[in-house]
Amino acid sequence: MGKDISNTTHTFLFCDGGSCQKAGSEKVIRAARAYLRNNNHWNTTHTIKTRCNGRCEDAPTCIVSSGEFWYKELTSDKIVPIVKSHIDNNLPVEADLLYQNKWDALKSNKEIAPFKPKPFELKNDKELGECYITKGFSSDQYLYPLFLFLLENPKGVTLKMYQQNAIPFTEITAVNYAKTYTLELETATDCISLTIAGVPKDNKELQQSKISSTEYFYQKNLKQTGIRFKNKFGEVLGIIKFDSIENLAWKYCTKIQLQNTSQDLTSL
Ligand code: FES
Repeated sequence: MGKDISNTTHTFLFCDGGSCQKAGSEKVIRAARAYLRNNNHWNTTHTIKTRCNGRCEDAPTCIVSSGEFWYKELTSDKIVPIVKSHIDNNLPVEADLLYQNKWDALKSNKEIAPFKPKPFELKNDKELGECYITKGFSSDQYLYPLFLFLLENPKGVTLKMYQQNAIPFTEITAVNYAKTYTLELETATDCISLTIAGVPKDNKELQQSKISSTEYFYQKNLKQTGIRFKNKFGEVLGIIKFDSIENLAWKYCTKIQLQNTSQDLTSL
């Protein structure tokens, strides 16, 4: 029988992602749960372990609901007064807060500036020749949305994977991301696999197929724009080309994937 959560007054969402684990989250969670058990709050509260909350620099973190209270740099000593304060007085412990609803800004002691793609740079590339080039993001949180967008906006887009024939993106009928590491692009007769999730360090085969570098390029002489995917060893895994600098999918790439950080290439 699962827990009856209809009586829950407070929910504590403890981050159990990699950075928080390294910073001692398990001790924090155990201390909070022991306090709740021993003080007869077990049946009216709920604790949940979550994956990364996106604030690794403030690890270990926890979110308290109801309300929206984010805590930072927790320890087993800090968490008990926090849990107590919410349950007994419905008040946060301000000194340990990272953020609460309606604050203008976070109160982090270790703020790390978010990574932004650099502007296009003119380079002489071994395969592409003279071209403007920049690096985008290669995590599945960017690549899966990219391929979904291309599925819906395939006009003028061509895909060429290493040692395979180029195919127009209009031939892709589905983009599936149901496997652990692999995104699948389906055509009527084929299935193209791309490794886009983080892969184990000791699996050479997966390391070799994993997209670790995503470069956006513009070959001014050819008026050609595209994306080149490489693995961590610098080997090319595939290339996407767009039929013009005005192509809708290319414009999406500069706006969403490159976050508008690059200059307008049409003016170059
Ligand atoms: S692992 Fe906890 S915030 Fe990232």
